[in-house]
Amino acid sequence: MAIELPWVEKYRPVTLNQVVGQKEAIDRLKSYVKTHNVPNMMFSGPAGIGKTSAAVAMAKELFKEEFGRNFMELNASDSRGIDVVRGQIKDFARTLAFSADFKIIFLDESDALTSDAQHALRRTMEKYTKTCRFVLSCNYSSRIIEPLQSRCVIFRFRPLQSKEVEEKLSEIAKIEGIKLDKKALEAIVYVSMGDMRKAVNILQASSALNKKVDEETVFNVSSRARPAEVKEMIGLALDGKFLDARNLLDKLMYEHGMSGEDVIGQVYREAMRADEKEISSKTKVAIIDIVGEYDFRMVEGANERIQLEAMLAQFMKFKK
Ligand SMILES: Nc1ncnc2c1ncn2[C@@H]1O[C@H](COP(=O)(O)OP(=O)(O)OP(=O)(O)O)[C@@H](O)[C@H]1O
Ligand SMILES: [Mg+2]
Repeated sequence: MAIELPWVEKYRPVTLNQVVGQKEAIDRLKSYVKTHNVPNMMFSGPAGIGKTSAAVAMAKELFKEEFGRNFMELNASDSRGIDVVRGQIKDFARTLAFSADFKIIFLDESDALTSDAQHALRRTMEKYTKTCRFVLSCNYSSRIIEPLQSRCVIFRFRPLQSKEVEEKLSEIAKIEGIKLDKKALEAIVYVSMGDMRKAVNILQASSALNKKVDEETVFNVSSRARPAEVKEMIGLALDGKFLDARNLLDKLMYEHGMSGEDVIGQVYREAMRADEKEISSKTKVAIIDIVGEYDFRMVEGANERIQLEAMLAQFMKFKK
């Protein structure tokens, strides 16, 4: 049997047109390709939304068959020190590009570069502007030193919209011969929260055993999302049925393996998604306040289980 490529790689966009969403960034990148005029850039935004894909696709369109020789990708988290900047980056940047005006270095996870390395990079960027362009990719732009930011055109990549994730998943499902019902599709969108890599990975995992994918399989595979049960638990607590709510919490944590962080995150999401008849706006505001408080306590290291129970106890105050 042939070894199957992970779908995230199999379906990685090859052209800029294949990158879903991120319209603003993609339009600009296309115009750079057209004019062969590329500035230093910084791509910031959460994981799995197309930063690397966009950089690679742009470089492929720009360099065509010389892509391999003119484009270098470095992952800063493997090698986050100043040595890389002095060694690999300099070596690549200072030599002339092949049948092009410049090369491109893509520095993935550049927010993991040490401050020394960032300062060294600032010099390197300036010195080799004639032969090389830099694309810095990061999850948190605030971790990039100001002088580097000011040398770059900044693109903010956004979590993908539900519709965008749905379209891509449906396309893959069609090619792979998977039957994905509407509820299953919605479940993947819910769990992946705008992260396309996560969405595609969940689709692949959910269809590994059975080409017919339903909602239950999706939640089992991702194991950490149980929106229906979480919603039920909130409802029980708000109704004053503390023991029932607590039993459900047990089930979520010990049967489904959700962490305290998973549970509290979904309590927040489900409470906000509920309509006015289910939970009034006034109660929602109070819930945000409570969830914020208990989330903080858990981050500070308090016992998750006890905190979640205490949170449910707080919800009882709203019993009509
Ligand atoms: N906008 C998108 N359009 C199409 N596919 C996407 C998009 N974003 C992500 N993907 C899918 O997810 C995979 C990972 O995307 P990519 O490597 O571009 O994410 P990233 O934003 O660089 O994430 P990270 O911050 O973790 O490096 C791609 O191979 C592709 O399959
Ligand atoms: Mg990336």
